[in-house]
Amino acid sequence: MRERKIRAIGLSNFSEPAIQDIAAHACVKPAVIQTEAHPYFPQEKLKEAAGEFDAILMAWYPLGHGDKSLLAEPVFERLAKTYGKSVAQIILRWHTQLGHVVIPGSRNPEHIRANIDLFDFELTQDDMNDIATVDREKRYYTATKEALEGYLSFAPDFDAQE
Ligand SMILES: NC(=O)c1ccc[n+]([C@@H]2O[C@H](COP(=O)([O-])OP(=O)(O)OC[C@H]3O[C@@H](n4cnc5c(N)ncnc54)[C@H](OP(=O)(O)O)[C@@H]3O)[C@@H](O)[C@H]2O)c1
Repeated sequence: MRERKIRAIGLSNFSEPAIQDIAAHACVKPAVIQTEAHPYFPQEKLKEAAGEFDAILMAWYPLGHGDKSLLAEPVFERLAKTYGKSVAQIILRWHTQLGHVVIPGSRNPEHIRANIDLFDFELTQDDMNDIATVDREKRYYTATKEALEGYLSFAPDFDAQE
C-alpha cells in the first residue's frame, strides 16, 4: 500500500546500476542525483542512466577539489581571458549550462562571492565543445565497498555538536 510519505527522492553517490534499479522499482522517481562531477569527469554515462527520469545532477567537487592541473587547463585560461572571468567561474558556468547544480567549497570570501557571479556571460556551443575535450574519465574519489557499507550505518551525533 502506498502511504505517500515520500514525496521526493535525492540520491547521493549511487552507481549507474543502482540508479537504474531504483528507477525501475521506485514509484517516486529520483529528482536529484548528487555525485562527483567536473570537466575531468563529466559523468556522461551516469547522466545517460538517469536521463529517462529527468533527474538533475548535483555536482560535488565541481572544481575538481581544487586540482591545480584541472584549473591550469589552457582552455579555461583562454576562456577566462575572453570573458573577463576567473578559471573557476568558467568551470562553474560550464556546469550550470549543462544543467548541473554546483556546490563549490571555499574558505575564501572573495571566491565564495565569485562563485555565484556566473550569470552575466554565456559560453558558446563551441566553448562548451572545447571544454568537453578535457574529459579524462578521471575521478578524484572512488568509494570502496567497505566505505559504502560504513555510510549505511553512519549516524553523526548532531546533538553533541557545538
Ligand atoms: N556527497 C558527497 O559524497 C561529497 C563528497 C565530497 C565532497 N562533497 C561536497 O562537495 C562540496 C565541494 O567539495 P570541495 O570543496 O572539496 O571541492 P571543490 O569545490 O571542487 O574545490 C574546492 C577547492 O577549489 C578552490 N576554489 C573554490 N572557489 C574558487 C575560486 N573562485 N577560485 C579559485 N579556487 C577556488 C578552493 O580553495 P579556496 O578555499 O582557496 O577557495 C578549494 O581548494 C563540499 O560541500 C563537500 O562537502 C560531497
